[in-house]
Amino acid sequence: MATQKIVIDGVGHTYVPPRGQSVRALDGITAEIAKDEFVTIVGPSGCGKSTLIYLVGGFLPLGEGRIEVDNQPVSSPSPNRGIVFQHFALFPWKTVRQNVLYGLERQKVDPAQRVELAQKFIDLVKLTGFEDAFPSQLSGGMKQRVAIARTLVTDPDILLMDEPFGALDAQTRAILQEELLDIWSSRRKTVMFVTHDVNEAVLLSDRVIVMTARPGRVKAVIDIDLPRPRTLQVTRGQQFAGHCQEIWELVREEAQQASGIASG
Ligand SMILES: Nc1ncnc2c1ncn2[C@@H]1O[C@H](COP(=O)(O)OP(=O)(O)O)[C@@H](O)[C@H]1O
Ligand SMILES: [Mg+2]
Repeated sequence: MATQKIVIDGVGHTYVPPRGQSVRALDGITAEIAKDEFVTIVGPSGCGKSTLIYLVGGFLPLGEGRIEVDNQPVSSPSPNRGIVFQHFALFPWKTVRQNVLYGLERQKVDPAQRVELAQKFIDLVKLTGFEDAFPSQLSGGMKQRVAIARTLVTDPDILLMDEPFGALDAQTRAILQEELLDIWSSRRKTVMFVTHDVNEAVLLSDRVIVMTARPGRVKAVIDIDLPRPRTLQVTRGQQFAGHCQEIWELVREEAQQASGIASG
């Protein structure tokens, strides 16, 4: 059996706002993610996908269940777990280079080495020449590249990506998907990726976890047994379409349920 990198065992989460009703977001989530595995989480809007990512990242206190990374309980954020959000979260007052340097400064990496490393990752995400630009001067795709470079530069073992390409146009998304797969296969990372795009899930993943409507539980786990690289021949094949269809139907059932609850 492969080494488990991330163990999620019976995890639940209820938000208790200072005023208003509490919200049961997750319920009894159990999943294991192997080292270097690429796992995607899909499910209807509001089913707790982001909550799960925050818990694994250590950004939310864990109330119920157990989350372990490398056999250690998660209690706080760690540079070993890099997170990429949907909405870039760059420092608007810092340049591309300064944004990428940020994590290295926090880790007190030697200053000369910092600059060299930052450049290496700026080049890797194809932003050479934009080192001194500010986020406001960049397109959405370029901003997301900066966010990815900033996360990768500290060399986390684990990437937690919460709809990282959700705000991008189809073409930019396709390019970044390919770049992410290149990085993943050359640098070996364990990835937990959230998307609502079923096609994206099948294209990227070793396994897809489908969540139920809120409170999110694991509805199904689908092995994506397609060869890599996922060339056009693969993505236009029947097997690819079959996986998309199967997952889409599972998600649709839950989305209908979610909208039924919302309107009832
Ligand atoms: N800080 C919060 N306080 C109260 N409820 C929240 C909070 N954050 C998220 N929720 C609720 O928890 C549920 C799950 O949210 P989230 O994890 O963001 O879902 P997803 O990412 O799958 O869309 C939603 O119903 C959302 O409204
Ligand atoms: Mg979300």
